Amino acid sequence: MRTPLVAGNWKMNGSRAMATELMADVHAGLSGVSGVDVVICPPFVLVPQCSQAACGTSVAVGGQNLDTHEPGAFTGEIAAEMLIDAGCEYVIVGHSERRALYGETDELVAHKTRVAFTKGLVPIICVGETLEEREQGVTEEVVTRQLVAVLNEAGSEIFPRAIIAYEPVWAIGTGRTATDAQAQDVHALVRERLAGANSAAAESTRILYGGSVKPQNAAGLFSQPDIDGGLIGGASLKAEDFLGIIRAANS
Ligand code: 13P
Repeated sequence: MRTPLVAGNWKMNGSRAMATELMADVHAGLSGVSGVDVVICPPFVLVPQCSQAACGTSVAVGGQNLDTHEPGAFTGEIAAEMLIDAGCEYVIVGHSERRALYGETDELVAHKTRVAFTKGLVPIICVGETLEEREQGVTEEVVTRQLVAVLNEAGSEIFPRAIIAYEPVWAIGTGRTATDAQAQDVHALVRERLAGANSAAAESTRILYGGSVKPQNAAGLFSQPDIDGGLIGGASLKAEDFLGIIRAANS
């Protein structure tokens, strides 16, 4: 049995005031919810505050990115040690925005995954195809390539602790969600590829779906056999919506 996980990726949004309110509202709304792991990934500057607010609650905190180097002369970067020191247990790696806007390659994402895992963070590894790739019919190749890069560099032993998030790029922030069946197809493929590398781990690895998940469509997605929760962008910025999605994962 895989415990569902719902993670909120705040992206470059939020303020100290917003974080205070949202963390309190999410915590309050979680009473009675026991069957879902909940993670909040705020911007770096809000990590210490969110970790403090999450202390003693069932909510965990994650970073949105990390650098691969040991602490040192890397202006503007954040090391795994620093995330851990600030209270993070998780870190998102290879988000499509980092791949598309900041030039992160499959190799760099794989390297980040290895470093994160080795240092003790749970990597949430994002994979997913662009609209163009889907229309060209190469979704399977793209997702497999992204996954194989991680398996080659970080090894299949990082699973089932490490988490995968399938986020079709065309569904992110567009309001256009993959259908339950489209998402399930890719999740099944990811699990099959994982099983090829580590059959024991594949069954217990959590594969999250991300891309315009809302309280209204969450239940359908989460009822699919290979979808184990969600990585939520926009809807994680509103307590009511985020809680609605968490409840859908709990039922
Ligand atoms: P949205 O939920 O806003 O589509 O974002 C998804 C995402 O990119 C989460 O990492």
